[in-house]
Amino acid sequence: MDIYSLPDYRNFEHKINGKKTHLFILKNRTGMQVAFTDYGARIVSVLVPDKAGNLRDVVLGFNSIHEYLQANEQYHGATIGRFANRIANGRFHLDDKEYTLQQNNGPNCLHGGPSGFHAKVWDRRTSFKKKIDFCYVSPDGEEGFPGNLKVTVSYELTDDNEIVIKYKAETDKKTVINLTNHAYFNLDGEGQGDVLSHILHLPSSHFLPIDENQIPLDSEASVYGTAFDFRSPKKISQDIDNDEVQLKHGNGYDHTFVNRQPISQVAASAYSPNSGIRLQVFTTEPGIQLYTGNFLSRKDTGKSGRQYSSRSAFCFETQHYPDSPNHPQFPSTVLEPGQVFESETIYKFSLVK
Ligand code: BGC
Repeated sequence: MDIYSLPDYRNFEHKINGKKTHLFILKNRTGMQVAFTDYGARIVSVLVPDKAGNLRDVVLGFNSIHEYLQANEQYHGATIGRFANRIANGRFHLDDKEYTLQQNNGPNCLHGGPSGFHAKVWDRRTSFKKKIDFCYVSPDGEEGFPGNLKVTVSYELTDDNEIVIKYKAETDKKTVINLTNHAYFNLDGEGQGDVLSHILHLPSSHFLPIDENQIPLDSEASVYGTAFDFRSPKKISQDIDNDEVQLKHGNGYDHTFVNRQPISQVAASAYSPNSGIRLQVFTTEPGIQLYTGNFLSRKDTGKSGRQYSSRSAFCFETQHYPDSPNHPQFPSTVLEPGQVFESETIYKFSLVK
């Protein structure tokens, strides 16, 4: 087993577009340690104890800001905005006005565009031993979206081994918003091979089927009788290569699961029998994007010096549905002036012995 440690602060001291970048560390009483950078308000490392009491770093990432900048952009640990996932053809309408965005994923706009929130240096507001807030003001028209948008993402590490993420946003013009975190988890530790033997459990009875451009169809589909049925715990490997058109469109799992659980109940969980580490997700969001790292492609070498290959991690991205502005029947992503956007997600780590 590797001995995991946090990256060096000095490797994160740099300037991007005139703004300084840093590494920040939160620690709790049980020994869990989480590192962040203001570049993209990203989670860099999450050290949690395994069943033998050794710390494992359960998220993919890099040891220096330079590597984040040079990497093939996979949104490692980043705060995603203004709009998580895809907007079809980079276009949407609000009150009969058409807005056009950059097409950075085939015909689609992905994760807020090429210079979305993941690529901005955020301002740090408060930072205590167990809590850190990042703020960013996105100017009207940035990446094509209307309104000056003031966003805060706050991360708290509790003594129950939870990372509590709270988002807040306000706009001065009617706009759309969909925020998430893009941490890639490997509960055996980053660089420890693929996640195919992880066991997932999602209570969702429905998911959103997608077309060949990965845009959701108009209605939810039942998971019953498909590879998308995780209502009883099942290995990721069990059905991922089934001959189902939905798996072909996503190159594996890359789909939104409909979440009807209140934040007090588990919306998704994953567990590795090898490390004994379990991750549970709680959220106020109506969807969870299960992405099995299908497009990770060995181009990048991560923190422990190993290449990140396809399916070497998974994401549970809590969010509204992709392409919502073009599907009036989906839960609304519209934010009006005077309203406060609020969203909360908890990633909780524990041991199954
Ligand atoms: C999307 C994938 C995309 C990936 C990029 C995920 O949120 O669902 O389709 O390739 O982000 O890292």
